[in-house]
Amino acid sequence: MSTLTLAQMAVEVLTTADGREKTALSHKHAATWFAARKAGTPIEIGTASPPLQPARPEKPELLSPRDVPRRKPGTPEGRMAILHAVAHIELNAVDLHWDLIARFSDVAMPLGYFDDWVKAADEESKHFNLICDCLERMGSHYGAMAAHAGMWRAAEDTATDHMGRLAVVPMVLEARGLDVTPGMIEIFKKAKDNQSVEALNVIYGEEVGHVAYGSKWFHFLCGRHEQDPKEVFHALVRKYFHSTLKPPFNEEKRAEAGIPPDFYWPLTES
Ligand SMILES: [Fe+2]
Ligand SMILES: [Fe+2]
Repeated sequence: MSTLTLAQMAVEVLTTADGREKTALSHKHAATWFAARKAGTPIEIGTASPPLQPARPEKPELLSPRDVPRRKPGTPEGRMAILHAVAHIELNAVDLHWDLIARFSDVAMPLGYFDDWVKAADEESKHFNLICDCLERMGSHYGAMAAHAGMWRAAEDTATDHMGRLAVVPMVLEARGLDVTPGMIEIFKKAKDNQSVEALNVIYGEEVGHVAYGSKWFHFLCGRHEQDPKEVFHALVRKYFHSTLKPPFNEEKRAEAGIPPDFYWPLTES
């Protein structure tokens, strides 16, 4: 039986720096949460003060996006750079889901809400490790190249706005992942890199769920506050997201995840 609350577990993950250690702890805490749920003795949610920024390893060096070197996808170096960028996104996603749990733990939510985000955090941990395995097989590793510094910005911008967080992180950023992943899978198929194709397919399949959790709980909160979901979504994304949304959109997967076209098309214009 765990003596930690869920919020404390989240802070433990957020304050662990090493990627493999962070994701191992994330998986362990998720297993503890679900075992307790299955036994009918759910772990207390509790409250916690998560750090404004999560602990991260010394490497990769974090650079402004325009300073991260671009490489051609037709080369092994280019494909390693893509995988490295994906690993960075996945590690960030582990922290984003645990941060959502800890930072807004004072908002009363049904247990199913916590089930969803613990599951999502556990899946991100698996995604990070799958991609690290691919990098290591190619003779590289997470930390071997520079990575984007701006990844945590959405979390900081929405640190005091629960609905803003759901709108920007799962419903904009993770939905963007659904748009770009099929093209990435094609690059690795062309290179006959089956291990990377398989890893990206796992990610692609599970990310639909994360976007769907975002949409589900965003709509839930709109209902609680008697607000119009589409209007609130547009207002929050314009407030917290520093860019317009860029087509082409994966309309099929977005629909599957509960995000209709009238949510995102108007945001292609400022
Ligand atoms: Fe992921
Ligand atoms: Fe995700």
